[in-house]
Amino acid sequence: MISDFILPQNIGKLVSGQVPEANNTGYSGAGVFVFDDLVLKIEKISENNDATVEMMRWLEGKIPVPKVICCEKDNEYQYLLMSRTPGMMSCDKYYMERPELLISTLALAMKMLWSVDISGCPRDRNIEVELKEAEYRVENGLVDIERTEPSTFGERGFKDPEDLLNWLKSNKPDYEPVLSHGDFCLPNLFMEGDRFSGFIDLGATGIGDKWRDIALCYRSLKHNAEGFYSGKVYSGINADRLFDELGIKPDFEKIRYYILLDELF
Ligand SMILES: Nc1ncnc2c1ncn2[C@@H]1O[C@H](COP(=O)(O)OP(=O)(O)O)[C@@H](O)[C@H]1O
Ligand SMILES: [Mg+2]
Repeated sequence: MISDFILPQNIGKLVSGQVPEANNTGYSGAGVFVFDDLVLKIEKISENNDATVEMMRWLEGKIPVPKVICCEKDNEYQYLLMSRTPGMMSCDKYYMERPELLISTLALAMKMLWSVDISGCPRDRNIEVELKEAEYRVENGLVDIERTEPSTFGERGFKDPEDLLNWLKSNKPDYEPVLSHGDFCLPNLFMEGDRFSGFIDLGATGIGDKWRDIALCYRSLKHNAEGFYSGKVYSGINADRLFDELGIKPDFEKIRYYILLDELF
C-alpha cells in the first residue's frame, strides 16, 4: 500500500489527492503504484538507481520510454515518478490471442532498440559487467533458486549457482553490442491497439549483447503461452516465429547462455 511509505514532499505534492492502483506484476520487490497518468516506482536504494534514471533521460526522444517527472531518495528508498505508458502489457489476453500481431510488434520493438546509436549511451551492461554483478549475487546468497527453470539446477543441471557462474565465465559468447533493454519480457513491453507503445522497467537497460534481449523475449513468449504466470494456456503462439520476424537465424547456444545468465538475477 502506498500508505506504507512516507513519500518525499515533492513526490507527495505531485500525486496528492489521487488514489493509485498497486501493481504486483513484477518480481523485483519494487512497489509500483499506477495513477491515471503517472506511475510511482519505489525501490530499495542500490547502486543502480541513478544509472537507471540517467538512462531513462538519455533515451527520451530516441525511443518510447516513460518520462522522468521527479526522482527523490530517502535513507531507504528511491521514489521514481514517471509518466504512465499508454496501452497494455503485451502479455495481455488481447495480444496473446493475436500471436501474429504480438510477435511482429515485439520484433519491431527489438529492432527499434537496435537502431539506436549507442555512442554516448551512459550505461554499459557488457558480459563482464553482468558476470561481476552475478558474482556478487552468488557470493551474497541473493540468487533465488525457487524462481529458476526446473532443469537449471539439480540432477541433470548445475550443482548450485556457483557452479553455473563458473560455467558462464568459461563459456562467454562473442559480443554483438546493441542497445539492450535487459529485461525484455512481455510485461515490460507495452502495446496500444496494433502498435508498440513503449518500453518500461529500464533497470538493466544499456549497451549489451543483442542475444540477451532475444533470449529473454523467446523465454517470455514461451512462458506466457504455457500459462506459467496466469494459468491460461495460449496454444496459438509459436515463439520460433520471432526469428522470422527479426529476419535472423536462431543461435540456440547464445539463447541458452543468456537464459542461464538470467537465472542468477
Ligand atoms: N511507466 C509505466 N506505465 C504503465 N505501466 C507501468 C509503468 N511502470 C510500471 N508499470 C506497470 O507495473 C508493472 C511493474 O512495474 P516494473 O517497473 O516492470 O516493475 P518490476 O521491476 O517489479 O518488474 C509493469 O509490468 C506494468 O504493468
Ligand atoms: Mg517489470
